[in-house]
Amino acid sequence: MPKQILVVGSSNTDMVVQSPHLPVPGETILGRNFMMNPGGKGANQAVAAAKLGGEISFIAKIGKDIFGHAALDNFKQYNINVEGVIIDQQYPSGVALIMVDEEGENCISVALGANEQVSEQDILAQEDLFDRCDYLLTQLETPLSSVQKAIEMAAIKGKKVVLNPAPAQQLPDALYPKIDIITPNETEAALLTGLKVNDIEGIQAAAKALKEKGVATVIITIGSKGAYVLSDDFAGLVPAPKVKAVDTTAAGDTFNGALVVALAEGHTLVEAVQFANRAAAFSVTKLGAQASAPARSDLDGLG
Ligand code: RIB
Repeated sequence: MPKQILVVGSSNTDMVVQSPHLPVPGETILGRNFMMNPGGKGANQAVAAAKLGGEISFIAKIGKDIFGHAALDNFKQYNINVEGVIIDQQYPSGVALIMVDEEGENCISVALGANEQVSEQDILAQEDLFDRCDYLLTQLETPLSSVQKAIEMAAIKGKKVVLNPAPAQQLPDALYPKIDIITPNETEAALLTGLKVNDIEGIQAAAKALKEKGVATVIITIGSKGAYVLSDDFAGLVPAPKVKAVDTTAAGDTFNGALVVALAEGHTLVEAVQFANRAAAFSVTKLGAQASAPARSDLDGLG
């Protein structure tokens, strides 16, 4: 039976405007296209993993509005098990306002809505999904207390825990030893460690500091350059294929979804990071979050 992946996290609707550049405070920009896309770090990772053939269950909270219903239909379309997706009766679905410039860089502000209502009780109520999974993949776009509960429950049950610490916030020291793999980008690694992370020495130092906190494997994603990996058996840069970036939104989410799919299939850590790099590279060549995540066949010949 294929290994089961449980994703716990956020679901948003992304309102995206392509702009010639990202505005400074007080500036109005005449943008170009507007798109409304399914997003949210949790949902993006769940869909990216499902598009690559992973067996996915998702725990999330959405509103009882048109965005929530569209999100639910979307998850079902990718054969994601939605028994852990709760429709909140009071709070609206999460919405993200996103601007994307001509180099594919973005800025994002999220109105969390129902995502902020995911509670420890909601996690406890889904214990069965934890029993059935092999991997937990989670992020920090739902309350830290619920993320902590999910990590603790998975760790107690002997499941592999992958944390993408995005958006970054300080984590309790006691949480780190329960995490098997942590996947910050450079900014997130700097916030978690208090170190300057803007060159390879900084990246190596941050990875070492996170490993010393008790995480078995640290993967620091470095955008178009690939990812730096530090585990007991390997330390080094795993480069990404070169592509022309159109929109980097959700590249990290695609990386994480793909990483866990490859690990669940039994690939080595370095092979899984190479696969994740290829999936993330593909995603930046397309607009949107979940829309840009590749199917397996899209990766043939990339890298
Ligand atoms: O990581 C990209 C995602 O961040 C977007 O889809 C947006 O919804 C925010 O959650």
